[in-house]
Amino acid sequence: MLKSSAKKEYKEKIKKYIKYSKKYFEDNSPIVTDQDFDLLKKEILDLEKKFNFNDKNSPSKILGFTPSKNFKKHPHRVKMLSLANAFDEEDLINFEKKIINFLNFKKNFEFEYSAEPKIDGISASLTYKSGKLIRGLSRGNGEEGEDITLNLKTICDIPHYIGQKDFPDDIDIRGEIFIQNNDFEKLKDNFANPRNAASGSLRQKDPKKTSKIPLKFVAYTFGFSSDQTTDKQTNFLIKLKNWGFKTSELNKKIKGIKNLLTNHQNIEKKRFELNYDIDGIVYKINDFKLQKRLGFVTNAPRWAIAHKFSASNSVSEILNIDIQVGRTGALTPVAKVKSVNIGGVVVSNATLHNEEEILRKDIRIGDTVKIERAGDVIPHVISVDLSKRKKDSKKFTFPLKCPSCGSKTIKEYNSQTKKHDAVRRCTSEGFKCEKISIEKIKHFVSKDALNIDGFGKKIVQNFWEIGLIKLPHDIFNLDFERISKLEGWGSLSVNNLKKSIQKSKKVSLDKFIFSLGIRHIGQENAKLLGEFLKKKENFFRLKNQNFIQELINIDGIGDTQINSLKNFFNEKANLDVILSLSKSLDIQSFKESTSTGKLKDQVFMFTGKLNNISRAEAKSLIENNGGKIVSNVTKKLDYLVMGEKPTTKKVDLAKKNKIKVINQKTLDEMLQ
Ligand code: IVH
Repeated sequence: MLKSSAKKEYKEKIKKYIKYSKKYFEDNSPIVTDQDFDLLKKEILDLEKKFNFNDKNSPSKILGFTPSKNFKKHPHRVKMLSLANAFDEEDLINFEKKIINFLNFKKNFEFEYSAEPKIDGISASLTYKSGKLIRGLSRGNGEEGEDITLNLKTICDIPHYIGQKDFPDDIDIRGEIFIQNNDFEKLKDNFANPRNAASGSLRQKDPKKTSKIPLKFVAYTFGFSSDQTTDKQTNFLIKLKNWGFKTSELNKKIKGIKNLLTNHQNIEKKRFELNYDIDGIVYKINDFKLQKRLGFVTNAPRWAIAHKFSASNSVSEILNIDIQVGRTGALTPVAKVKSVNIGGVVVSNATLHNEEEILRKDIRIGDTVKIERAGDVIPHVISVDLSKRKKDSKKFTFPLKCPSCGSKTIKEYNSQTKKHDAVRRCTSEGFKCEKISIEKIKHFVSKDALNIDGFGKKIVQNFWEIGLIKLPHDIFNLDFERISKLEGWGSLSVNNLKKSIQKSKKVSLDKFIFSLGIRHIGQENAKLLGEFLKKKENFFRLKNQNFIQELINIDGIGDTQINSLKNFFNEKANLDVILSLSKSLDIQSFKESTSTGKLKDQVFMFTGKLNNISRAEAKSLIENNGGKIVSNVTKKLDYLVMGEKPTTKKVDLAKKNKIKVINQKTLDEMLQ
């Protein structure tokens, strides 16, 4: 084709592209099929490549048209998980050890991994039905995301239609949206880093500003899928590529920790040559069957881990040392340092961890220090340059009273390690300490707790300072008239806040327990408590200290948690808070899993050692098949599974109560 006629054709195609895009993105009423739209985009890009054409309206330049301002929420069919982090060889060894124990494999078993660079962007989930992209969601809180379909459809790397025969009929493709570093250069003034730029432009309200940001998409996994034929993650990655998705060119299949480490070192060296930010390597057990057996804990899979890169560091001077008070009363010293740019992020605070750390490193105000920043972890001070220490510098004295409420502080004694804690804590209970109260409310409204949309940490702080809230239940009696007069609060945002507070009132018992921020009661433990207590009335019965003691029967709950609950329920202020909250909230009883598995509604208990399988895996096998596990013989128990060296007392008690005592073989048969 002659260049002149190609140019004419190119211009015509661009015209068409503008017309189709306008219909598609602005009017939300496409006039051509997604396939034709994709084809047109591809033809334009091909012509650009061949003849070096360019046009300001080309799909290679523009992000799209006006995206919707308010994104609707939509549930993920399969939860979007996050990943646990590893920082060194020891962490990786421990990760493998846990897996080996869980699967009851031989100690020297060598796993095969899919090792994939961890792009530092924003994850998204794309639902394709019959090959057609029908929905795109952001990660959100992992359970439900924002419907950002239109915005995602503007990204060139995201196909709208996939015609290959082996493409599953119904699948969620997941991957990372990001922006390349050279493109970020042009936006440096508006965003702190490329990740923020990607996130900001995905949810832009003013498209003119962002329409020129070329977002990229790399695919790496799936959520729901109607296909059960792929056996390994590395093979799935190959399929992704064949279907037309971009995958990372640095993905590798690797056996054994030693080789993972070599690959990590190699990529880390190359890291700064790449045109996009990566903050580590994700390792996934390659075999999907093993992944399925391993399952996940609360928010992260057991079968994967993110091996972070060692931090970037820099040097700065400590201007002051602030003592921050956390939700559990921990006093954390934070160094205010002269602003310094570390790996593209401007750092002015660095954590000093705890009193012990300051003593050990003899860190002082005025010192010149080396600061490290690893990915999204808070920067910390590594060492002091003593040669630069000023002559008149003085040792830092850690406050012995809480800087917020003046209460006594202590370092708790740990009877297990027979040592005092490194962390000093404020001893005030309940809501007496200002800083602790604010942190408790921040926790109460946070994503994993009541998940009150639009009620961020800054708003909590602000409302607290102007006296709108002092205690968690004040959230349900807010003076909206006053809020609407505050700067930055229009009627729309007030209404949105009202709505999300209203929505948060319906809460499951375990989330409610977690939201109270009781020390040592994290998400996992709150779940265990919810499962055991079933109804909110039983939770309130924990006022009775004898009843608390019964919690020792729960697998996973120990003295630490019990003592913490005792302290919590001993404090009248806490009782008042939970009573008031119970009036405003609709606390749902614990929902039994609605699984329809082979063991539906059957209750099991173990005694003695099992063969070739760990307790944890046996437990998750039973639960995945609809069964339940308890840890003591009660009337509800259906089967006592007897392994080697069982506790005779338990077996006798079960027999006395006419409970079926079975061996591992019978359990295996039940699961066939
Ligand atoms: S797998 C199933 N693979 O890392 C576990 N995630 O901290 C999670 N990420 O939200 C997804 N590269 O945004 C997976 N090759 C990769 C990834 C990757 C980056 C991000 C993703 C996720 C976060 C987890």
